[in-house]
Amino acid sequence: MNPTVTTEAATAEESVISYGRNFDVRDRVIVITGAGQGIGREYAREFAAAGALTVIAEVNDDSSRRVAAEIEQAGGTALAVPTDVADSASVAALTDTVVGEFGRIDALINNAAIFSSLTMRPFEDIPLEEWDTVLRVNITGSFLCARAVAPHMRAAGWGRIVNIMSGAVPLGVRNYLHYVTSKAALIGMTNSLARELGASGITVNAIQPGGTFTEVPRETVTAEGKANLIAGQCIPREEVPMDLVGLALFLCTPAAGFITGQTIACDGGLTHT
Ligand SMILES: NC(=O)c1ccc[n+]([C@@H]2O[C@H](COP(=O)([O-])OP(=O)(O)OC[C@H]3O[C@@H](n4cnc5c(N)ncnc54)[C@H](O)[C@@H]3O)[C@@H](O)[C@H]2O)c1
Repeated sequence: MNPTVTTEAATAEESVISYGRNFDVRDRVIVITGAGQGIGREYAREFAAAGALTVIAEVNDDSSRRVAAEIEQAGGTALAVPTDVADSASVAALTDTVVGEFGRIDALINNAAIFSSLTMRPFEDIPLEEWDTVLRVNITGSFLCARAVAPHMRAAGWGRIVNIMSGAVPLGVRNYLHYVTSKAALIGMTNSLARELGASGITVNAIQPGGTFTEVPRETVTAEGKANLIAGQCIPREEVPMDLVGLALFLCTPAAGFITGQTIACDGGLTHT
């Protein structure tokens, strides 16, 4: 066996307690980008509730601090680090702050995206500046964050990177061409990063949510569109952020140590990958 590759799964000889630890994120340092609202906020709250040391890396200072305070009030540990994922200096400051505070980075959830604020429009009407901004945040931001955490994970010989993709890619949703294109790029990024980082004990996977309804209103979602979406799922009810939490938590545990380079749909059966 390659000596740099270790097996993380519990062996038959290990106790029930160590088996339980395999499904544990307690004391893991988890950086969640874009966690100031919506699905990212739910990841942050639930990782913290599960005992992780949660970092809110969010461009909106107010919301990042609000979510951190919410977690602390609930008895969890959270650190708000206002971060623009599209800016390499800001991302470098993020990793410096996290390592300074906690000494390591165990997992990165690349959740930040330009999404709920987007106006849906035919692709010919997308301004070039908006196209560039969406690709810069959604693709380059994920690259910059992965590049910044990787040395810390390599040094530890353990790490988890989770990229947040979208069901809009396999569905080929109309009128969001920059967004869909950006999310499609994350599949390739996930596959290639998994190959580059696997021998260092780092897994890289993508979660593919379906249409998920958060506390953030979206003008582009009509009642008819929502009903059609739900009718297309095997489980015909609206998807909520909590539906995505179990998969995100699992991918960051030792138990998921042999799963890498995968895009996993969590959408009530809207798509079949
Ligand atoms: N809600 C859905 O239906 C759905 C479906 C599929 C995939 N997703 C994906 O899930 C993730 C979360 O979705 P959401 O509905 O909570 O989106 P959202 O738009 O409500 O939240 C995105 C968050 O990212 C932050 N952000 C934007 N630019 C940033 C930057 N440069 N640096 C740091 N933070 C930045 C925003 O301030 C915001 O807090 C996104 O990646 C989205 O593409 C969402």
